[in-house]
Amino acid sequence: MKLAVLKETRSGETRVAATPETVKKYISLGASVAVQSGAGEAARFPDADYAAAGASISPSAADAVQNADAVLKVLAPSSEELRVFPRGAKLIATLNAHSDPDSVASYARLGIDAMAMELMPRITRAQSMDVLSSQSNLAGYKAVIDAAAYYGRALPMMMTAAGTIAAAKVFIMGAGVAGLQAIATARRLGAVVSATDVRFAAKEQVESLGATFVTVDEEAMKSAETEGGYAKEMSEDFQKRQADFVAEHIAKQDIVITTALIPGRPAPRLVSADMVNAMKPGSVVVDLAVEAGGNVELSRPGEAIETGGVTILGFKNVPGRLAADASSLYARNIYNFIAAFFDKETKSMKADPEDAIIKGVMLTRDGKIVHPAFEAAATQEPAPEPEAAPKEPIADAADETDGEEED
Ligand code: NAI
Repeated sequence: MKLAVLKETRSGETRVAATPETVKKYISLGASVAVQSGAGEAARFPDADYAAAGASISPSAADAVQNADAVLKVLAPSSEELRVFPRGAKLIATLNAHSDPDSVASYARLGIDAMAMELMPRITRAQSMDVLSSQSNLAGYKAVIDAAAYYGRALPMMMTAAGTIAAAKVFIMGAGVAGLQAIATARRLGAVVSATDVRFAAKEQVESLGATFVTVDEEAMKSAETEGGYAKEMSEDFQKRQADFVAEHIAKQDIVITTALIPGRPAPRLVSADMVNAMKPGSVVVDLAVEAGGNVELSRPGEAIETGGVTILGFKNVPGRLAADASSLYARNIYNFIAAFFDKETKSMKADPEDAIIKGVMLTRDGKIVHPAFEAAATQEPAPEPEAAPKEPIADAADETDGEEED
């Protein structure tokens, strides 16, 4: 089996889908790997390290994908890149299929077997392949570091001969993987942390990290989680009460970090311009959902703006701001996925269509759309819920903060 690793072409994308470490592992499995020259440059993995790990270095994407059985990428390929893919090749990447359903039709048309890693079902067996988790963990950490860098004060309480500095108050909205990591990071920096979420399960996780959980309606939260472990869109009444409550809480905060997402829908709007205007000058708001439409009314994708003395950070691709670690974790997620379906005898990947993991991620096969959510869209019928498999318990995100390896 030949794997091709391409250099990402989207502007601002610093990550790479394989590292010298995973190349070595693929070769031990019995695969061969072609890496496009410069693919790991932005993540500080030079060509020489890939070559030392056993990869061949290809001068261009077209050269790398020649006769490839699978193409590994971080983001979806552009239409120019797709043109050079061999028919029948597998494409393994974060394809953002729900926000770009047209791309699914083009994979089918071009005979590419596309697997969308963001649709990985949240079952125990797939945890080490979960790219959303690995990348969100880093984004949650980096959001706090970015906020601290723009905040003109210290985060921990400090008692000095010249007097005492109060600890910063940090509020995290959305306590999923990114939010829990943000809580853990802000706590380590000595901030006083509170958090909110619409899923009831989040309450215990927030409290176990030493933060205060705040909410308007615990009863409504009990039915806010889908079987896949994600949040549902809340009722208008809940949203209104949440907004009133949040307005009051936010006015007392120094740093607000929003991470709220709803799969397949625009991010919920949680922080209005009025709420930002009520914050003290010098406060910082970080909108990690900015690329999904934004949780914060005034945030701008890719920009750091200031309004009324409050800084709003809307950095795009936050995991990519930690390119080496984000690539290492992403590359291990992809390796774990391929290795789980690798047939040592034929030295190729056998993607069993009946396996829950393959059912979850496989968009197209043999020129046809096979994922139920997109098959329905192609025939103009209402699409079912995006998740394919029920959620199983996950190791607490806080565990991962304490140095546990993803694989
Ligand atoms: P996500 O990235 O889709 O959303 C982030 C957070 O925003 C979620 O906690 C969600 O409940 C929250 N949210 C949505 N709307 C909101 C609103 N209006 N107000 C406040 N918060 C709102 O979710 P993520 O982080 O990918 O995962 C959610 C949960 O899934 C995790 O906490 C975990 O329990 C579970 N999970 C399970 C895995 C497994 O393999 N079993 C792997 C990873 C996560």
